[in-house]
Amino acid sequence: MLLELTGVEKRFGGVIALRNGALSVDAGEVHLVMGENGAGKSTMMKIIAGLQRRDGGGMKWRGETVDFANPVESARMGIAMVHQESLLAPHLSVAENIFLGRELRGRFGLVDRAAMTQRARQLIAEHHFPLQAEWQVERLSPAGKQLVEICRAIQHGTSLLIFDEPTSSLSESETKEVFKIVRTLRDRGTGVIYITHRMDELRSMGDRVTILRDGETVHTEAMSTLSTAQMIRYMVGREVSALYTREPVTPGAEMLRVHNFSAPPAVKDVSLTVRAGEIVGLAGLIGAGRTELCKAIFGLDRNARGSLWVNEKPVHFRTPNAAVKAGVALIPEDRQKTGLARELPIAWNVTMAGLDAISPYGLLSHASEKTITAQSIERLRIRCDSGAQKAGRLSGGNQQKVVISKWVSRGAKIFLFDEPTRGIDIGAKREVFEVMDELARQGAAILMVSSELPEILQVADRILVMRHGRIAGELPGRTTQEEIMRLAALDTTEGAGQR
Ligand SMILES: Nc1ncnc2c1ncn2[C@@H]1O[C@H](COP(=O)(O)OP(=O)(O)OP(=O)(O)O)[C@@H](O)[C@H]1O
Ligand SMILES: [Mg+2]
Repeated sequence: MLLELTGVEKRFGGVIALRNGALSVDAGEVHLVMGENGAGKSTMMKIIAGLQRRDGGGMKWRGETVDFANPVESARMGIAMVHQESLLAPHLSVAENIFLGRELRGRFGLVDRAAMTQRARQLIAEHHFPLQAEWQVERLSPAGKQLVEICRAIQHGTSLLIFDEPTSSLSESETKEVFKIVRTLRDRGTGVIYITHRMDELRSMGDRVTILRDGETVHTEAMSTLSTAQMIRYMVGREVSALYTREPVTPGAEMLRVHNFSAPPAVKDVSLTVRAGEIVGLAGLIGAGRTELCKAIFGLDRNARGSLWVNEKPVHFRTPNAAVKAGVALIPEDRQKTGLARELPIAWNVTMAGLDAISPYGLLSHASEKTITAQSIERLRIRCDSGAQKAGRLSGGNQQKVVISKWVSRGAKIFLFDEPTRGIDIGAKREVFEVMDELARQGAAILMVSSELPEILQVADRILVMRHGRIAGELPGRTTQEEIMRLAALDTTEGAGQR
């Protein structure tokens, strides 16, 4: 046994993040840690990695009690972590970040830059990551940063490696590479802790699973003997069906029309319509242009060309502000960066986009701010102390729920949801779908980008499939994953099968 945690406690002011955390990890096993958003998973991992100190309970490393005061101490034991939010130094290069704090030194103790660049190149090449050792980290996409974190962890995590939702921003092929890395490490005898909300990953990855609920370890079992239904019951503490089925609404008037719309180079000549009451799924591989299409519709791309109609009137959004005024909302994919004011209270975040709705005379009504915030917190089960808490202090998944609430409370009429369930736990996914369904029933038009095919199939009335920036085809809501993949990945010669 490598690591053993018993009765671990951690408080942040009035918030109890962990009340009774227990976990044991053996060498050569992949141990999954599961739990709802805010259950205490990341906090537990940060304690193991020396980023936070426990308030109580025990932690043993190879049988001896340890208390890491900082990440350097845990690194000395060969423990490394891939963080849920990037902790890299933005102004440094990829290679410098991989070795930050653990620089390779040559004779006379001088930092050996050439050796570090060389080793970074090797790591990148070995895993076919689309990176270069010299690139500045600031310029990288969220996925790129994640890959740097992964390189950093495999370079230093010789005994225990912690992956805290490593794949949520990665493409299909990058995700596969991460799986391969995890298996290789395990086979070499490294212990791996892996956190994810994606069911498909759980099943294919884990040897054992530990489930946290409200800061407490409620169960540990071999993955092979635990059914999905049992797992969810331990997580949520009640029966939740993993299946969600939506009763379609008869569509009303056309609310959004996009015609011959291009946003070079990612979006090429797209035409589509969404009617009131409809949820239209937008499927496709990562890089097919779905996010870029949503951004362009929302006025975020100055080079966008083509026509837009909202409520059958021609519009031209030069800025997101103009789109918002016309009743359009974009719930972005990269919520932590673009959707959330981390230093402001939850309440402000939730009501920010809808200030005019709660201040009829130009004054902010605290009573309505409170009501709207309370409703959102209850509705999406945002786990927090109170609406006054800083949004940046919430767990990753709960931050995402705040951004969704912000747009829902504003009363927009056309919603562009980009990967709405990414990083969100199973119970809350359902709540998000129910919110979308209710919006549609109240007459909203919804375009939903999702890479989770089972979810698109559960929610969408119609499915548009994008490929290489174009709409490759349209399918009814009750289609199959195979049909969608066929359109998404079809690699025909240019022209065939394309409009
Ligand atoms: N620095 C902090 N200050 C205040 N509260 C915090 C801090 N870090 C975490 N918390 C709180 O501790 C609780 C547990 O958070 P944690 O990040 O461990 O959850 P998680 O299980 O990783 O959730 P997710 O699946 O959303 O990532 C949450 O209620 C969170 O708001
Ligand atoms: Mg977390």
